[in-house]
Amino acid sequence: MAFPKDFLWGAATSSYQIEGAWNTDGRGETVWDRFCHTVPSKVANRDSGDVACDHYHRYREDVALMCQIGLQAYRFSVAWSRVLPEGIGPVNKKGLDFYSRLVDELLAAGIQPYLTLYHWDTPQALQDRGGWANPASVQWFAEYTDVMTRYLGNRVQNWTTHNEPWIVAFVGYFYGGHPPGMTDLTTAYQVAHHLLLAHGAAAPIIRQNVPNSRLGISLNLNPIYPGAPETEHLSAAFRQDGFLNRWMLDPLFKGVYPADMVSLVEPYLPPIDLTTVQSAAVPLDFLGVNYYLRNVVLHDDNELPLRLRHIMPEDAQKTALGWEIFPEGLTALLVRLQQDYAPAAMYITENGSAFDDQVLADGTVNDPQRIAYFESHLAALEQAIEQGAAVKGYFAWSLMDNFEWSHGYDKRFGLIYVDYTTQKRTLKQSALYYRDKIRG
Ligand code: FCB
Repeated sequence: MAFPKDFLWGAATSSYQIEGAWNTDGRGETVWDRFCHTVPSKVANRDSGDVACDHYHRYREDVALMCQIGLQAYRFSVAWSRVLPEGIGPVNKKGLDFYSRLVDELLAAGIQPYLTLYHWDTPQALQDRGGWANPASVQWFAEYTDVMTRYLGNRVQNWTTHNEPWIVAFVGYFYGGHPPGMTDLTTAYQVAHHLLLAHGAAAPIIRQNVPNSRLGISLNLNPIYPGAPETEHLSAAFRQDGFLNRWMLDPLFKGVYPADMVSLVEPYLPPIDLTTVQSAAVPLDFLGVNYYLRNVVLHDDNELPLRLRHIMPEDAQKTALGWEIFPEGLTALLVRLQQDYAPAAMYITENGSAFDDQVLADGTVNDPQRIAYFESHLAALEQAIEQGAAVKGYFAWSLMDNFEWSHGYDKRFGLIYVDYTTQKRTLKQSALYYRDKIRG
């Protein structure tokens, strides 16, 4: 067994996906509220996070379930607009109090809170002023960070700034599948830049307000494979790696954008001084790695700007989301991150799978495919550790079934099954598997 004794076992969620109570106790509107309510064509079944898992009212029950699984840590995010309904300015005491009660409940249960400041639910009031495309967003985020760290810094040690900033920028502003649903590559690069600067601006505030703080950021990282052995496909894989992975990793660890990518996408870049991204390269206590799948690409001259297209290997095993199950990719990714960036530590801040779970007549939920997914990925993780990757913990995605963004409630990722009509929670077999794994 490569897992060291102090290896940390946890599970993750995010605010918009589980809390519900979208307009309760003074919470301000978020971009996801607006998107679900006004662009239902982009969200399956016209679902929204209005109620979700009603975690806002049921957090005590949910922490008790975490104890049943034996979790040592819980990764959650704060809904910025619960705390600052307008994104900046007046603080909503009731919103702060919710997170205070949640943290106290976790600490009393012996579960370490891992707090993410931003997991995609931008306050709509700030979006109305351009959101992350506005250079002022860096200051807005700093202000919010200051409020949260002053309030919870005495009880929460582990802070992550952003969850998957790449997705915010490129799915929100280039592919258009997330709010604000834009399809403009230049704006996407501008947004990515400001997210990076905001991370850099938040870091010293966290350091100052939180004694013994541990600072991280979670990235969506996919290892990239060429779909054929010819050199042109190897180059295509390197470009996709630059687009998706290095565009975030190089600024965070080296303070510069990758030069090959800068020249490739030059015509699409906004008129900003790219060297200012240096401020994103603050020392990190850990890199959060969210891993679900790999990318397989082929060179294709017709597909601009990257001149590549994605393919699905013919024999691929897939989850209910159509994502390829490829545990070896996790080993490869982690070993590569260690070699190229040497982070002080890494945590798998998300890893998991969606399957079509059914409640059986006896009330249990049998999910052998999810168990197999965890088993193979934990084995892959063990191999990475054996090969020198400094991974210190693992957070299963997700603690419970929840609002899976544009897929609505159709896609279930939870260790815990949620019946959305009754809000009844049931531990799936995978939760019992995970409990035994943690005990072992
Ligand atoms: C990640 C998100 C997380 C969840 C999983 C399935 O990209 O960070 O909120 O939706 O995908």
